[in-house]
Amino acid sequence: MESSETLEGVAFSAAAAFPPKTTLPLFLAPMAGVTNSVFRRICREKGADILTTEFVSADGIMHRNARTRSYVEFTEGERPMGVQLFGSDPERLSEAARQVIDWVHPDFIDINFGCPANKVVCRNGGSSLLRDCPLLERVADAVVRACAPLPVTAKIRIGWDAGSVNAVQTARLLEGAGIRRVAVHGRTRAQGYSGSANWDVIAEVASAVSIPVIGNGDIADGQIATERLKSGVAGLMIGRAAMTNPWIFTEIRTTLTGKSFLPPTLQERWQLVRRHCAEEVAERGDERQTMQGMRSRLMAYTRGMQAAKPLRASLSAISSLMELDDLIAGHLREHARDYSSASD
Ligand SMILES: Cc1cc2nc3c(=O)[nH]c(=O)nc-3n(C[C@H](O)[C@H](O)[C@H](O)COP(=O)(O)O)c2cc1C
Repeated sequence: MESSETLEGVAFSAAAAFPPKTTLPLFLAPMAGVTNSVFRRICREKGADILTTEFVSADGIMHRNARTRSYVEFTEGERPMGVQLFGSDPERLSEAARQVIDWVHPDFIDINFGCPANKVVCRNGGSSLLRDCPLLERVADAVVRACAPLPVTAKIRIGWDAGSVNAVQTARLLEGAGIRRVAVHGRTRAQGYSGSANWDVIAEVASAVSIPVIGNGDIADGQIATERLKSGVAGLMIGRAAMTNPWIFTEIRTTLTGKSFLPPTLQERWQLVRRHCAEEVAERGDERQTMQGMRSRLMAYTRGMQAAKPLRASLSAISSLMELDDLIAGHLREHARDYSSASD
């Protein structure tokens, strides 16, 4: 890594975390319970340029338990890499950010101003701050000061609800507080994940501030990504589509360079699924528990595959890699040849 700045002797590369305007960085969206180190490395291999941990609570950082450790740790190969924090108290969040920097030396700290979950919102964190702009500004300002010279970025939704869409105002406040990049998920908190992302508002934000704006929401393939670039964003962030298809990053990059993307074969898809599971088992140790925990991830991988329904029924009972191997062998025997016309 080419180091451009130092933080108490720790080298980090703001240049790598902030690519020049000529390149369009592709971000893996932070996703709780999904974007752990194993999955991030898979997405990096498939073309994700910038990675972030899932959100971690400032209070969790203070306690430094084993669980928090697993949330914030990453491998050198994942750089440029950010740690995402949430909280509502400027001092606690700043202290947590400082501790994370000492602890794992990320390339940037990202603040979550978008989480819609009740358990986060009722503690005034995540998207709750979108309806308290003075506090949001204080949080951003405090964290920026605490982390300097390490860059701080933010992720927001377009507003609390349809009647209070304030992404432009929020982004301007964040820019003024020294936030170096803002990712905008084009939904309100009230929408949760329903409806569709509003890219008109994302475009308004992109033209209202000078810091890079990263567009996020419903990017499902290379064509959509190409269309979304018209909003004037400096980069694209992809979440759920990567869970089903980590090749989406390769697809977008290929499509943007005007070439046609050759989708992976069924065999390649299963190989990746198998590898993902094996790496999780190697990392966590307990095969049975790990494979049970992987069930929902396996469901996501089967989207678009032939005979997905019976496949999902079998996957919902899976407890070992051997069972997965049998299932994959059976599915390949049945469908390897007709995969090109696959639909769910
Ligand atoms: C399972 C799941 C977990 C998520 N966890 C986080 C999180 O920890 N931090 C965050 O900023 N956003 C989180 N998000 C929101 C995503 O980062 C992203 O903004 C959202 O999924 C929209 O992008 P997409 O349409 O590409 O999925 C999560 C989304 C999902 C589906």
